[in-house]
Amino acid sequence: MSKTNSNSKTVFVHVQRFNPDVDKKAYIKEYSVEVTPDTTILDALHEIKTHQDGTLTFRRSCRHAICGSCAMNVNGTNLLVCNTPIHSMLDRKNKITVKPLPYLPIIKDLVVDRHQFWTQYQRVKPWLIPMEDVPEKEFRISPEEIAELNKAETCIMCGACYSACTVVGTSKSYIGPHALLKGFLRVMDPRDSAPGERLIELGTSEGIYRCHTIFNCIDACPKNLDPTKAIETLRNIASKRKKFEESRLERQKTINDPVPVEKAKGS
Ligand code: FES
Repeated sequence: MSKTNSNSKTVFVHVQRFNPDVDKKAYIKEYSVEVTPDTTILDALHEIKTHQDGTLTFRRSCRHAICGSCAMNVNGTNLLVCNTPIHSMLDRKNKITVKPLPYLPIIKDLVVDRHQFWTQYQRVKPWLIPMEDVPEKEFRISPEEIAELNKAETCIMCGACYSACTVVGTSKSYIGPHALLKGFLRVMDPRDSAPGERLIELGTSEGIYRCHTIFNCIDACPKNLDPTKAIETLRNIASKRKKFEESRLERQKTINDPVPVEKAKGS
């Protein structure tokens, strides 16, 4: 990328820098980088780190929008830098500004401390609590039930929604959209045997009732998920928790039965 070609142009990457060992506060540093139409923001950061300033610190791993480690704030928007072409975010002066995710303590440069994020995640018990009578081979889940789970299953825990949420910015005790979405996933899973217990934990003023329905989480999600809708669904279910628990017990009585052919085809 350091070699120029006919498709390349120079852009200006403004990066927020902060080294707690030497800096009193964060500051912006400008780097000029030669890019092509295929260059992602992460490519540009690598270019800077490799050829201009080895002290620049940021997280990344998969480079394919899977691991969630490269979420950052670019021009005020939380996104994954590994799958965002840099040209899509340039202003008229061919400039972009890259900062760490908001509302989270900065460890160094673009790396934030996600401790609170993971603590809230643990709080919703994001693992399956299986029924006692586990089938020998597999659970039989209908296409409709799978469709519900798909509304949350592709979350990669990047933190983009969490740090875009203004409620998180004012309350560290708020469970947060990422964890509430995982809570939704488990509550809706017909294999799970503790939906009532989960709804009690989620149904507090630190959980589903703390959401202000501002929709920032939807805008920030790189997987196009809808945590706000999931929170709304949880509120509805929580208002008739006992009935929901009873229907789960009923459903689990038949969860080992074969799925009818027409349902298995999704028709
Ligand atoms: S590096 Fe894994 S999501 Fe971007």
